[in-house]
Amino acid sequence: MILPRKDKDTMKTILSAKDLCKTYSNGSVMQHILKNLNISIAEGEFTVIMGSSGSGKSTLLYALSGMDRPSLGTIYFEEQELSHYSNNKLAIFRRDHCGFIFQQNYLNDTMSVLDNILVSGLLVDKDYRAVTRRAKELLRRVGLDEGIDHKFPTQLSGGEQQRVAVVRAMINAPAILFADEPTGALNSQNTDHVLDMLTDFNQNGQTIIMVTHDIKSARRAERILYLRDGVILSELKLGQYAPEDSKRHQRLKDFLTEMGW
Ligand SMILES: Nc1ncnc2c1ncn2[C@@H]1O[C@H](COP(=O)(O)OP(=O)(O)O)[C@@H](O)[C@H]1O
Ligand SMILES: [Mg+2]
Repeated sequence: MILPRKDKDTMKTILSAKDLCKTYSNGSVMQHILKNLNISIAEGEFTVIMGSSGSGKSTLLYALSGMDRPSLGTIYFEEQELSHYSNNKLAIFRRDHCGFIFQQNYLNDTMSVLDNILVSGLLVDKDYRAVTRRAKELLRRVGLDEGIDHKFPTQLSGGEQQRVAVVRAMINAPAILFADEPTGALNSQNTDHVLDMLTDFNQNGQTIIMVTHDIKSARRAERILYLRDGVILSELKLGQYAPEDSKRHQRLKDFLTEMGW
């Protein structure tokens, strides 16, 4: 299900955006949130987007993932231009190629853990037994014990709930996992758990684009993009995460200081 990591030299662009603009109008005032922004994401890459609150990080993530449409500009997923898609085709693109996690887990409290995952999985694959098997494999892989499948979300801790949300996002083996502040509501230990999962998926080839304002979370990424005034101001290449890399944290801190974070 998960592709082996590609050689960095042969990595191809999976998602790119050119001259992306997003403008909101609040009454008579036009707010330019994204201003001719350009971005390119390589297959298998773990990219983090940082920037101060209100700088447009979520807006960018939603435009890139087809959850929202840019005001101007083009977005390419592989060779296909998303702006030409109808709403229906865009929904199918999200269903087939994107996984999402947010600060809130958005699990359905009236369904079991397994059913929460199956609802997403069965949209793409009608083979109930195969989807159930994959769901159970993923739950074990993220360290959730046998027996959790039939529990309800309210019976789990916040950290366990978020891990279920990650499994739900991964059930269709998305080409890209989009994460908007996924550790924002978690304590330190649960943050580590979720970050370990993301690192594990990425080291097995998963493309991840994550918005965060947490240095500990950002440190996991291979590349940090810093957003300011609607454009990507600068980028830091950190390379693949290794827990023992003591210089990594300082490099990231220095970069953020330079950005005026
Ligand atoms: N639907 C909307 N209508 C009007 N303004 C919006 C809307 N969504 C976001 N904004 C504005 O766009 C700016 C960037 O928002 P957002 O992308 O959520 O920032 P971030 O995720 O970096 O904190 C904010 O000033 C916000 O108020
Ligand atoms: Mg946001």
